Amino acid sequence: MYDIGEAMSIITSATRMWLTKSTKPFRFVNISDEKLEYDNEQNMGLYVHIPFCRQICDFCPYCKEIYDRKKCNKYIDSLIQEIHIVGKMHKGKKQVTSLYFGGGSPALAVERIEEIINTINIYFYITEGIGIELHPSDLEVSKLTKLKKAGVTKICIGIQSFNEKFQALLGRCNANAKVISQVLNDVEFETVSMDFIFALPSQTFEDLKSDIDTAFECGANHIAVYPFIDFTFTKSKIKGMKSKKKRELLDLITEYCYSKGYRRDSIWTFSKNHTAKYSSMTRDNFLGFGCSATTLLKDRFKINTFSVEEYIKRINKHILPTSLTIKFTLRQRMIYYLFWSAYSTKVDSAEFEKFFGIPLKRMYGLELFLAKLFGFVTEKDGVYSMTLKGAFYFHYYESFYTLSYIDKMWGIMRTNAFPDGISL
Ligand SMILES: C[S@@+](CC[C@H](N)C(=O)[O-])C[C@H]1O[C@@H](n2cnc3c(N)ncnc32)[C@H](O)[C@@H]1O
Ligand code: SF4
Repeated sequence: MYDIGEAMSIITSATRMWLTKSTKPFRFVNISDEKLEYDNEQNMGLYVHIPFCRQICDFCPYCKEIYDRKKCNKYIDSLIQEIHIVGKMHKGKKQVTSLYFGGGSPALAVERIEEIINTINIYFYITEGIGIELHPSDLEVSKLTKLKKAGVTKICIGIQSFNEKFQALLGRCNANAKVISQVLNDVEFETVSMDFIFALPSQTFEDLKSDIDTAFECGANHIAVYPFIDFTFTKSKIKGMKSKKKRELLDLITEYCYSKGYRRDSIWTFSKNHTAKYSSMTRDNFLGFGCSATTLLKDRFKINTFSVEEYIKRINKHILPTSLTIKFTLRQRMIYYLFWSAYSTKVDSAEFEKFFGIPLKRMYGLELFLAKLFGFVTEKDGVYSMTLKGAFYFHYYESFYTLSYIDKMWGIMRTNAFPDGISL
């Protein structure tokens, strides 16, 4: 008998082989000192990771550690150096769509956010604004004012749930709607997004509906509703919901948001208006700075080390802090492209052809035909849009992918700063 992990690994490997038309695994190797070629990349985003938190949540898989002022400052000195090293790899000033600060709780370094943005501005020209993830404890008028003055236009608050029962289950507090509403009234941002976690034990649609309503009432114009994922390396004791129940919840949430006139702009996100956007993921290419940050370019995907100490040491030697890199075959790059694009619930054939110079139908005609036949997607003018069923199965497959690829990789990288290699 296979255990669940083996079964997931078989499914993801079989899908990978089918879509890449190769038995070759995704092979990540330890190379770090190569020049990154991104002069000609279009629609590129930037990401900065700040891995410090006031306290650690048991369920959280991200790269983070307890905040220490001195260590955080040393880290940011190195982060600024990394931006200089990578920024100098292209000529002139490169146009990018956006800059996102994630973590961790990046606002713990509020006094240095402006300095980081100013460094980015030496090498990059940002067209669609700057976003930052906030913990509810960061919601103070003085802090938000500083962030706004530094150039931040979008904020995303990790609420998880307004319901005290689920806050307690997750070991969270401070998500008080009245207080949040007051602060958001005093300092306005173009996008105010709020993160929620769903599919927690005993959670009902009524609980989620109440969270969604409270979010929009207290100042959000965008929400992200993530399914709870039980990563094997976290200390969380919370058990996820059965898949059937999860699907019912996801469909009810989606239908409810549509009935309120909200727009679905990715698998998990809904917005009140067109200007409200918050997404560090749905980009063709991105450059990542800081521990654990990932970079996706035409020819490669790379991940920085998860160790703050080793990150600082590498930067002090003027070497990129890359831990693992995969150099893509064309088919592998196409899979990455389709996987990231699918987060937006749409794949546009014209955009695919512009990116690869090959028609989407020529590469994946059979798969698209089957996806239409089984009711996972609809097509209009070459744009494939996921149906509710398609979005559920993408989300379902994505959980498999997360648990068999990301869980394995992050599990290793948390304890080994520079592994020799990983095959997925
Ligand atoms: C880096 S955290 C958010 C910012 C801030 N540190 C906070 O906790 O409020 C990013 C988001 O990932 C989501 N998240 C974290 N762990 C998760 C898990 N195990 N399953 C699903 N979503 C998770 C949460 O919604 C969280 O707000
Ligand atoms: S959920 Fe947020 S606050 Fe909690 S450990 Fe993760 S990054 Fe830190």
